[in-house]
Amino acid sequence: MKNVDKLSLENAYQLFDTGDINKIEIGTTKGLQQIHKYLFNNLYDFAGEIRIHNISKGGFRFATALYLNEILAKIELMPENTFEEIISKYVEMNIAHPFMEGNGRTMRIWLDLILKKQLQKVINWQFVDKTLYLQSMERSPINDLELRTLLFSNLTEDVNNREIIFKGIEQSYYYEGYEKENDNE
Ligand SMILES: Nc1ncnc2c1ncn2[C@@H]1O[C@H](COP(=O)(O)OP(=O)(O)O)[C@@H](O)[C@H]1O
Ligand SMILES: [Mg+2]
Repeated sequence: MKNVDKLSLENAYQLFDTGDINKIEIGTTKGLQQIHKYLFNNLYDFAGEIRIHNISKGGFRFATALYLNEILAKIELMPENTFEEIISKYVEMNIAHPFMEGNGRTMRIWLDLILKKQLQKVINWQFVDKTLYLQSMERSPINDLELRTLLFSNLTEDVNNREIIFKGIEQSYYYEGYEKENDNE
């Protein structure tokens, strides 16, 4: 892991260990920006900042930067009463992809905050297979059934379990290619 990625992982642990996670606004763009800022402060010069450039991944073009603020305002208003609604909102936020980098890691924490507030559940990410997850995310702009099924089968009511939270954070970094090494630090 590069130093910047290690530092970001440390920030993610800190977000929960300090209790700062409880100060994050839930289900809003502002809340998403707060999480991004927390994870990447002093590591990316755009920490917490909505992008002004267009980006794509695997041939998929995320929302046009020019309309991003309007799109984000609409996503914020999406309902979050049921698991289905929450996943739809998460999928739309992924299509928006508001940051130049760090969207995946930021959005999974954002999603868990909504699930915790609305359903008193979170995703037990350590058991969500990387390949299946990334495939279902790629598929989600067309159809979110695979994603919904995958995440629904990995919900836990153990929302404040530190081990589940920390293993989940490590899994989230692993999805993006950042693997914790077992070197003696
Ligand atoms: N082709 C795709 N279509 C839609 N979403 C994708 C695609 N490829 C990756 N994603 C989503 O984008 C996330 C990665 O975004 P990125 O900004 O690189 O986050 P991070 O820096 O945390 O790695 C993945 O976790 C996945 O959810
Ligand atoms: Mg990335």
